[in-house]
Amino acid sequence: MQKKSVFVLVFMVLLGSTTLWSQKTKIPYLSSEGGTTQLMVNEKPWLMLGGELGNSSASDLKFMSEIWPDLQAMQLNTVLAPVYWELVEPAEGDFDFSSVDKLIDQAREYNTKLVLLWFGSWKNSMSCYAPLWVKKDWNRFPRSITKEGKPLEILTPFSGENLDADKKAFVKFMEFLKEKDEQHHTVIMVQVENEIGMIPQARDYHPEANRAFEEEVPASVINLLQDENVTLQPHLKEMWESNGKKGKGNWEDVFGKGLYTDELFMAWHFARYAGEITEAGKEVYPLPMYVNAALNSRGRKPGAYPSAGPLAHLIDIWKLAAPAIDVYALDIYDPGFNHWCNLYHLPNNPLFIPEIRNEPGNHARVFYAFGEHDAMGFSPFSIEDTSNPSEAPLTKSYEVLHQLIPLLGEKRGKETTGVWFHHDRRDTSFVMGNYQFHFKHDYTLGWNPAAKDGTQWPETGGLIISMGNDEFIVAGTGIVVTFESLNEQSEAGIGQIEQIERVGDQWVNRFRMNGDQSHQGRHLRIPVDNFDIQKIKLYEYK
Ligand code: DGJ
Repeated sequence: MQKKSVFVLVFMVLLGSTTLWSQKTKIPYLSSEGGTTQLMVNEKPWLMLGGELGNSSASDLKFMSEIWPDLQAMQLNTVLAPVYWELVEPAEGDFDFSSVDKLIDQAREYNTKLVLLWFGSWKNSMSCYAPLWVKKDWNRFPRSITKEGKPLEILTPFSGENLDADKKAFVKFMEFLKEKDEQHHTVIMVQVENEIGMIPQARDYHPEANRAFEEEVPASVINLLQDENVTLQPHLKEMWESNGKKGKGNWEDVFGKGLYTDELFMAWHFARYAGEITEAGKEVYPLPMYVNAALNSRGRKPGAYPSAGPLAHLIDIWKLAAPAIDVYALDIYDPGFNHWCNLYHLPNNPLFIPEIRNEPGNHARVFYAFGEHDAMGFSPFSIEDTSNPSEAPLTKSYEVLHQLIPLLGEKRGKETTGVWFHHDRRDTSFVMGNYQFHFKHDYTLGWNPAAKDGTQWPETGGLIISMGNDEFIVAGTGIVVTFESLNEQSEAGIGQIEQIERVGDQWVNRFRMNGDQSHQGRHLRIPVDNFDIQKIKLYEYK
């Protein structure tokens, strides 16, 4: 071989291996395409079939080593686990990440990804995870103060010392993660703080807070309000408009006097603080980062709920003040699952549910979250408390969803829809491909004795993926599906239904679902307590 071609060959091999190397080491990131945002891990969409640990579980690695088999049996592909500031920096500047190190090793052993939650300055409003050296030095690390002058166990966001201390620790944490995990991608996302919010009053009355309250509203906020090309959350716009659309002034001048103005002001300052921490961490190791909200449910007013956190009505303020934060997530502990999903699934925010009460119904809701709202992840809280882990209903749903991840990754945004039913929400209809679909709760058939004996109907749910105009994949539990042609002159019929299963990279046909299983060609059905994936081919006749 000529010298020149040897050189070219060596160069090509090197180039190839460099490309391979850089692909291998690309850290998890968010990709927004086709109307949806996906978390990409090793260049593939990663839907988090998750569970969040109870707050103290990750502080005892012996306990953790005992529960990993259960977490695995529950089919979790992602565990959300806290990292405690008080444990990783027990004395100022003295960092010890050995517990996080071991947790990551355990996750790798069980082939599970981690989302790590930075319990830093704030955990459910409070500063209980600040190390004792921070708590005890209240002159240097000042607290929020009530209107009456009482100090709270809440670090004030109006202190540079508080911010610096938290930021330093968070940066160290991200340096550790980079060193430990940059080539492995076990940790796929980081939550910054936990359920930030002011309580029991809507705002902080620390002297620095009072001074900031008198300052002019930042010009960037006014510009945002005045920008007619931006669609804002109605709450913010209405506050500004109802107070005369002022272009200048302090917070009360611009938004009027009241609890919601206090909240807006705090939201700006909480967001700046959390945003700065996020930005500093990302400079070291730019994993996707998010904040989570305790919801303003049950008609409560600011202060009665943890106000000024990353709530849906404050998202525009948060986004402006904290551009480094990628996702605004919600913790659902209240009724109205679909209502909360709708509030957080926005054109500029993907749905991510890092916490939901660990309760019956989640096995149904998860289909709706992924199918209807393109959720990035779903994760019941205190997952290790699930009884009978390998047989739990959510485990069955996760088994089904595991198989669908590659397909959902490809089709989400346009070609999927999700449904969710319960006692008072029994059916829905929509158009997909050439057909009008009618999805109903399985009990609408009246075949199950429990449908008519007065007991509450269990929650059921499913999703549908369009595979072409006449072919669809339906998955879920407790649903029955019928169809109509969009052409008024034609009828819709079932060509065939296969129960399918993904084995490795291949879809395998299992049962041909005909006869009783399709009510002799009348419907597709996945009864309550069954968890299934079925592929249906429809046709039209006259
Ligand atoms: C929401 C918090 O984010 C969790 O850490 C935990 O405290 C739960 N509430 C408890 O219900």
